[in-house]
Amino acid sequence: MNVGILTGGGDCPGLNAVIRAVVRRGHQLGFKFVGIRDGWKGLIDYSIVPITKEMISGLLPRGGTILGTSRTNPFKKEEDAQRVMANIKKLGLGCIVSIGGDDTLGVAAKLFSRGINTVGIPKTIDNDLSRTDITFGFDTAVSVVTEALDRLHTTTEAHHRVMVVEVMGRHAGWIAVYGGIAGGADMILIPEEPFDVEEVAKVVRKRKEEGKNFSIIVAAEGAYPKEAGGSITKDRTLDAFGNVKLGGVGEFLAVELEKRTGIETRYVVLGHLQRGGSPTAYDRVLATRYGVRAAELIHEKKFGRMVALEGNKIVDVPLEEAAGKTKTVDKGIYAIAKVFFG
Ligand code: F6P
Repeated sequence: MNVGILTGGGDCPGLNAVIRAVVRRGHQLGFKFVGIRDGWKGLIDYSIVPITKEMISGLLPRGGTILGTSRTNPFKKEEDAQRVMANIKKLGLGCIVSIGGDDTLGVAAKLFSRGINTVGIPKTIDNDLSRTDITFGFDTAVSVVTEALDRLHTTTEAHHRVMVVEVMGRHAGWIAVYGGIAGGADMILIPEEPFDVEEVAKVVRKRKEEGKNFSIIVAAEGAYPKEAGGSITKDRTLDAFGNVKLGGVGEFLAVELEKRTGIETRYVVLGHLQRGGSPTAYDRVLATRYGVRAAELIHEKKFGRMVALEGNKIVDVPLEEAAGKTKTVDKGIYAIAKVFFG
């Protein structure tokens, strides 16, 4: 069988490790692979590359994706969807492995409903995809945040400042909560619980009164003050899937906190650093497990499914149940984070 592989949406550490695992296991099962360049865009433009054994050598630790990625939505225009269908036929693809988050997997689910065999693999640093406990890339992003917080602690303490650290995560606070717990943040703000600026200022003042004259506040990019009624955005533009560009809560909060507490406050936006570079050991193993199982699903002709992690087991779930629903932060883990606020 000829199998196509694509990576879509924002890149994330572990994409190459997944490609390697799908192809290694797939070759053992007798499949041939072609790479589709830049996500779904490659199937609109017929931008294809054969995947050879040599190409997947040395991929395990490499960040980014050898196939490239984009946020192209072929269902925005019916003519693009038709081109995708026609190109799949022309290439003689028996299945497409799509590695992505809810947007990319949403397209895979739609194609499956139009009769195309697809198998999905959940990726995103945000960990906000439904029906899987963990997406690969998340652990690496959390490690980057943790290291950043360790470094920011020493300089913030030395200058007796407040540091606001804005992290990624879209409309879910997973990276903020896990990174904040691991890095010992004094307060963590997430989109799931809009914050009160004065409450944050109170925590900073109380710490000072208790002799801790520095504070580290982690703010998820989607976190927002109650009175704003919604996340802070960089501009009004939307991507092809209708996503807004989040950003600005760190700066907003730093200005407010300095005004309200009189303590010198700085902010850092960790941004795309969280997505770049080599995957952690955890992400390499998870990506490998997902990739191997995805190839086996094709062999078993279990199409329209996504590989997923349930507890510590790799399972498979219907693609359409994973796509389109944001998995928000579990209240239990946020309650643990709150024990250390202040
Ligand atoms: O979904 C992953 C993610 O990194 C989000 O955390 C972030 O909001 C967004 O992508 C950034 O996207 P871009 O790469 O388009 O700036």
